Amino acid sequence: MTSASPSESALAAATLIQTRQTVLPKYQVEPGPQGMALEMILAAAGHAPDHRQVRPWRLIRVAEAARPALGEVFAQALLARDAQASDIEQAQARDKALRSPLLLLAVVDATKGDAQISLNERVISAGCALQNMMLMATALGFASSLTTGKALHDAGLRHLFGLTAGEQALCFLSIGSAASRRPFKPRPSPSEYLSVLDADGLRPHP
Ligand SMILES: Cc1cc2nc3c(=O)[nH]c(=O)nc-3n(C[C@H](O)[C@H](O)[C@H](O)COP(=O)(O)O)c2cc1C
Repeated sequence: MTSASPSESALAAATLIQTRQTVLPKYQVEPGPQGMALEMILAAAGHAPDHRQVRPWRLIRVAEAARPALGEVFAQALLARDAQASDIEQAQARDKALRSPLLLLAVVDATKGDAQISLNERVISAGCALQNMMLMATALGFASSLTTGKALHDAGLRHLFGLTAGEQALCFLSIGSAASRRPFKPRPSPSEYLSVLDADGLRPHP
């Protein structure tokens, strides 16, 4: 490692990483990424680490025309969990499908390709792909967020997205323009998550 000042590109990378923040779908508005911007975001996913080129994940974009069907899946999943869910709660569940301009479902395949590649590795690869996309979205001026929810494991959702037996829905990635942003969160410093394994055992990172 050199002790020289960081290069411009290193500083730009640090700024990009530090300015990504979650903007939940309800705070996202049009326009979403289109054309070249959309292509750049989607292509960023393909640069994720991928042991033995299994590409153990895939993405499904939920087009505008399919949002009502996804909303219905959310509402039915809610009713399956709570048959007493009110009309308002069902409407709120449906509304979740309508919120962000670009809505992607990330799916991991636990079995595809080389059986040596564990599910952990596959999920990490998918996480890297998602982070790549969020960083590219940030660089292009868009807001992003990851969301999950109980409906991810619902049979209706699996059917709607055509998931195979070996696939699991991981999370949604929403990208759009920020209607509002929160102040940046305080972030942990390396000393909070890093220790050093030395000849004498573990010691804290200074
Ligand atoms: C896989 C994953 C799923 C998440 N799902 C939700 C969710 O459904 N709802 C939510 O409010 N936050 C969810 N979060 C948290 C936010 O996406 C976000 O990471 C968190 O609010 C921290 O904000 P930051 O990204 O600005 O650090 C999820 C995070 C991850 C990593």
